[in-house]
Amino acid sequence: METTHRVFVGDSRDLAAIDDESAELVVTSPPYPMIEMWDDLFTELDPAIGEALEAGDGRAAFDAMHAQLDRVWDELERVLVDGGIACLNVGDATRSVDDSFRVYANHARVLEAFESRGFDPLPDILWRKPANSAAKFMGSGMIPPNAYVTLEHEYVLLFRKGGESRSFEPGADRRYEAAYFWEERNRWFSDVWTEVRGELQTLEFADDDLRDRSAAYPLEIPYRLICMYSAYGDTVLDPFWGTGTTTLAAMCAGRNSLGSELEAAFLERFDDRLADVPSLSHSVSRARLERHREFVARRREEGKSFEYDATHYETPVVTKMERDIQLREVTSLEAVNDGLGGDSERRYRASHEPLTLE
Ligand SMILES: C[S@@+](CC[C@H](N)C(=O)[O-])C[C@H]1O[C@@H](n2cnc3c(N)ncnc32)[C@H](O)[C@@H]1O
Repeated sequence: METTHRVFVGDSRDLAAIDDESAELVVTSPPYPMIEMWDDLFTELDPAIGEALEAGDGRAAFDAMHAQLDRVWDELERVLVDGGIACLNVGDATRSVDDSFRVYANHARVLEAFESRGFDPLPDILWRKPANSAAKFMGSGMIPPNAYVTLEHEYVLLFRKGGESRSFEPGADRRYEAAYFWEERNRWFSDVWTEVRGELQTLEFADDDLRDRSAAYPLEIPYRLICMYSAYGDTVLDPFWGTGTTTLAAMCAGRNSLGSELEAAFLERFDDRLADVPSLSHSVSRARLERHREFVARRREEGKSFEYDATHYETPVVTKMERDIQLREVTSLEAVNDGLGGDSERRYRASHEPLTLE
């Protein structure tokens, strides 16, 4: 099986390079309005944003930043198929503008924006991030009432385009082979995610500087979402591509991907990561299978039995729907130089084989 991956330098407020209804899934994380690291970027998109911040009008800046994101949401509405899912990782911002402290509820504003574009909101995920600072409490210490709760969570907002789910031909292999294990379903579809980095952290690329500069999310976030909301053969789009974590996750999960990113430098850095993709994808799939076997052992120790056997692996599974699960790994990856797109676009072709362990 082959997958294709295409990323271009561009402004996602206009995704003219992407055809209508050409992605089945969007997985992305925009720059968060009112988080200071993105002030300059938003001001470049609309100078009135810088002026509002200068004038101490936080609410006007917040609205104007979201007006820029709204233009990207319009494009997503166009390029996503009916029944396709959009997954948006977004956090709220706390900030003092003009000496007045408050929270800017990005998640609520994004939810409204999608709903008004005809997307149906689905139950969302609260991503609880590990607390990392002893001095995290804000306000006046132990004296009421002027201290503030610390924000240690972000959201993964989930939307379906249109009122109807996607339909597949009965018994579609590409859907059943993309099944996830029962115990993965129980973890992934819970509404609070903690210790997200635990599962794949040791397998990730170590480039903390790049991660900080780009506000990259851990691979586990897009990987899970891609496994949860797409089948083999589908295309995943990230309009705020950053360091390309979504594309890496799509490669590991055996899906096609599309990305668009303002900063050309991020695309160049991505090439450095390519050589490691086959071993990363092997490790990711292998870790899932090993984790499943540990689950099987634990469940047997508890005296519980299994009714089904997997078709492609020497392991039992809990439900009938998991039987045909077939994990994949990238066996080779090449940059495609077909002259299309020029310097501002990169295309890759990945070959995948079913993961075999024996
Ligand atoms: C929060 S970061 C995404 C990080 C990414 N998820 C990762 O793991 O690396 C947001 C990215 O969106 C890009 N960006 C912001 N506005 C954009 C626009 N209008 N079009 C394309 N990219 C944009 C920024 O340059 C930044 O790299």
